[in-house]
Amino acid sequence: MKAIIIGASSGIGRELAKQMSAAGYVLGITARRLDLLKSLADELPEACVPMAMDLRETDTAVSVLRELIASLEGVDLIVINAGVGTTDRGFPTASELETAIVNAVGFTAMANTAYHYFAERGNGHIVGISSISALRGGPFASY
Ligand SMILES: NC(=O)c1ccc[n+]([C@@H]2O[C@H](COP(=O)([O-])OP(=O)(O)OC[C@H]3O[C@@H](n4cnc5c(N)ncnc54)[C@H](OP(=O)(O)O)[C@@H]3O)[C@@H](O)[C@H]2O)c1
Repeated sequence: MKAIIIGASSGIGRELAKQMSAAGYVLGITARRLDLLKSLADELPEACVPMAMDLRETDTAVSVLRELIASLEGVDLIVINAGVGTTDRGFPTASELETAIVNAVGFTAMANTAYHYFAERGNGHIVGISSISALRGGPFASY
């Protein structure tokens, strides 16, 4: 099986990559911090292709996802894990806008690209990592 994890340089995505590789998945991994992706790829037991991606640059991020799918010669599963959020109760405008761009616009760009790829192929799975905040809200405005 082959999978892509979007947002694998740290946290949940990085640990997920370790567990999926241990389970036999060939992986493609993305994030902005390519150095962290490369160090992760080096320690995984299965093949892993790291690629830099910035979800704030939507068109380029879509191109990177397509390029990664092609370089893996197809994938069965795409995990959209990348996300940001701030706990600053001053609600800084730049942080709030970044959250909306990465978590909403970036997510939509990745999900849409994955959908069209899998629809054309005839099968595949998309996994979105969200938050309980999506269901019950919280003190973090745009998150
Ligand atoms: N930790 C929690 O308690 C929790 C709870 C609920 C939901 N979540 C959700 O789970 C997901 C992972 O969270 P985490 O706690 O593991 O956070 P994390 O360690 O900060 O990981 C976030 C990942 O997203 C990537 N990312 C952030 N901004 C990006 C951008 N502009 N372009 C491309 N990639 C970007 C980061 O890579 P770079 O910085 O290298 O780009 C990193 O790989 C997020 O969607 C978060 O909202 C987490």
